[in-house]
Amino acid sequence: MKLESQARKMLEKIGVNKGQTILDFGCGYGTYTIPAAKIAGEQGKVYALDKDRQVLDELMQKATSAGLKNIRRMQTSGELEIDLVDESVDKVLLFDVFHSYYFLQIADREKLLAEIYRIMKPSASLSVWPKHMESEAGEEIKDADFHLVEEFSGMLVHENNDIEKGKVLNFEKE
Ligand SMILES: C[S@@+](CC[C@H](N)C(=O)[O-])C[C@H]1O[C@@H](n2cnc3c(N)ncnc32)[C@H](O)[C@@H]1O
Repeated sequence: MKLESQARKMLEKIGVNKGQTILDFGCGYGTYTIPAAKIAGEQGKVYALDKDRQVLDELMQKATSAGLKNIRRMQTSGELEIDLVDESVDKVLLFDVFHSYYFLQIADREKLLAEIYRIMKPSASLSVWPKHMESEAGEEIKDADFHLVEEFSGMLVHENNDIEKGKVLNFEKE
């Protein structure tokens, strides 16, 4: 619970709000999906997208135990197309996934950012925890027609079991 409240604190800081439609891309076990769904509430929803069936199974079990009905499972094969309509999402979380371990080629990261851009409402924001790519991520994201709005330093939950200092960058569409 301590980890969840830590994750929730960061989400509140970066502008996750009640009623939002949120995409948690590369959601893993749901460290951020579950608290985001609690904040979004019944009027909001969180798309939990991952290519790993096992992590999504675990996440959905946690959602059921917590009585959360606003998480939509999106299991993929790792493709970079996102099965959501244009301008339909208020907030995108890209936490500890936008790095070269998962997206080896810069072209893949560009494609992912273009998809994220497409599904974001004009007023939406993209929040990135650029772990493992702290120095390059910001520039790559700006090159994809986003502008940096704010940086948030604080404690982040890593791998669902420890807390470490980090930075989340908030971007909006140009
Ligand atoms: C290091 S974990 C981070 C999980 C979560 N965002 C967090 O911060 O706790 C990265 C996750 O991204 C997922 N992932 C990596 N590449 C992906 C892709 N192309 N499509 C969907 N999920 C992907 C992995 O399966 C893994 O669950």
